[in-house]
Amino acid sequence: MTAGKPAYYITTPIYYVNDDPHIGHAYTTLACDVLARFKRLDGFNVRFLTGTDEHGQKVEKSAAKAGVDPQSFTDRVSQNFRDLSALLNFSNDDFIRTTEERHKVACQALWKQLVAAGDIYLGSYAGWYAVRDEAYYAESELTDGPNNTKIAPSGAECEWVEEESYFFKLSAWGERLLKLYDENPDFILPASRRNEVISFVKGGLKDLSISRTTFSWGIPVPDAPAHIMYVWLDALTNYITAVGYPDEQSESFKTFWPADVHMVGKDILRFHAVYWPAFLMAAGIEPPKRVFAHGWWTNEGQKISKSLGNVIVPKELVATYGLDQVRYFLLREVPFGNDGDFSRKAMVGRMNYDLANQFGNLAQRVLSMIAKNCEAQVPQPGALEAADEELLNAAAALLGDLRGEMDRQQFHIALTKTWEVVSAANRYIDHAAPWTLKKTDPARMATVLYVLAETVRRLAILCQPVMPDAMARMLDQLAVDAGARDFSTLDSRLVPGAALPAPQPIFPRYVEEEAPA
Ligand code: ME8
Ligand code: MG
Repeated sequence: MTAGKPAYYITTPIYYVNDDPHIGHAYTTLACDVLARFKRLDGFNVRFLTGTDEHGQKVEKSAAKAGVDPQSFTDRVSQNFRDLSALLNFSNDDFIRTTEERHKVACQALWKQLVAAGDIYLGSYAGWYAVRDEAYYAESELTDGPNNTKIAPSGAECEWVEEESYFFKLSAWGERLLKLYDENPDFILPASRRNEVISFVKGGLKDLSISRTTFSWGIPVPDAPAHIMYVWLDALTNYITAVGYPDEQSESFKTFWPADVHMVGKDILRFHAVYWPAFLMAAGIEPPKRVFAHGWWTNEGQKISKSLGNVIVPKELVATYGLDQVRYFLLREVPFGNDGDFSRKAMVGRMNYDLANQFGNLAQRVLSMIAKNCEAQVPQPGALEAADEELLNAAAALLGDLRGEMDRQQFHIALTKTWEVVSAANRYIDHAAPWTLKKTDPARMATVLYVLAETVRRLAILCQPVMPDAMARMLDQLAVDAGARDFSTLDSRLVPGAALPAPQPIFPRYVEEEAPA
């Protein structure tokens, strides 16, 4: 049922198909998945989009290198990103490919709107272009590389391009972009990145070349088929294609546009926070509400790259540490927005300490005591004491806190706050010592175990976005109805007397001997 629910639209970048999916791609989509799941459980009508960016010179070259035509190449490699979604349990509602007909229609319609608005003109481009970034660079941004090459700030090699080209009048949009940032202080997060963008725009914008004539793998410019649309104009448009553009009156466009969050890595912030809102405003379409640019992962302190042979393959991570352990680690380890380093030691630490020792052990202790001492039923609590109320209240207050953190994409703080309640529950169990009460005061033991089971239920419901499988198993063990796990059920309580299945450990410890060589 979607009627009456507030809408929430979240997108990942669409990934270039020439790369095999790695931890970086997994990270961005994971963050979106967690946000999408959180919002669904919180009663929103969510649209979560990911997909692949399949046009342009870079993909054309990769296809040629693979010895196949670009369409067959993209058909094959796009599947790798769908497989990533299945592997990591991503809940995207749609998967867009820029080679789809719906997208060609949208790109050509947007182009025509920009022409009608007077924001496109024909000229010629003479300057530097980096195929790897699919980006134009000013001479002043480049450094000298070996053999007289020119190198972009990203490290990509540039080539000199000189050809007839259509231009977008980006130079006319500087003031309006600054006004957009000013009136919407959270349009670009985190704040440090916002400042970078503002100073870039204040530095003065040049008109942007938005068509190429020296290759053919892309969407033809309407009425000028010798020109192929610049791949970034094509790619960015995916966000509106997927909600029904050019039919701006369609139910889905009216419901989901403007997007709530475009999640991107910091490498592509300029395209999303400068070019994209300028294109949209020029076409008379509302800009998105937010662009969040997260940081960059390294591997044991080193840049991740194919040539260094240190690419972290999501499949191997999941096979070694477990799916939900990896999901938890990626969002807990690094403040969202900062750069992060993957280290096996940190991964194992989070897995064994936060998950196995703290959360898993809490649930295991409570459930096995209930199984042994309460006839495997939710215990009947007596009158609650102050400490009981305190723990239940801490768990109850969590939802409000998490809403605030998730609305600013502060995943690591949301998890830290959740673990404060896990720790409080561990302190409570140690202090109340139900194993001693078993002999001295069984009625009080039942109350303590009830309070703990109820706290675990609330924690498990709130942790579903990050660890959907593990939390489903935890809630199964508490006999929580599969249809009663959204956030509205946080107001209810476990029903005393309900039969519970035999407890099973949820979070195994990582044992060093099992490490691959
Ligand atoms: O740029 N750490 O696609 P792309 C963190 N097609 N995130 C990383 C990462 C790392 N080491 N490596 C990659 C493109 N990413 C365009 C986008 S959108 C309209 C078009 C993630 O395949 C991060 O989200 O190069 C980054 O922005 C994205 O992958 C780049 O993916
Ligand atoms: Mg890239």
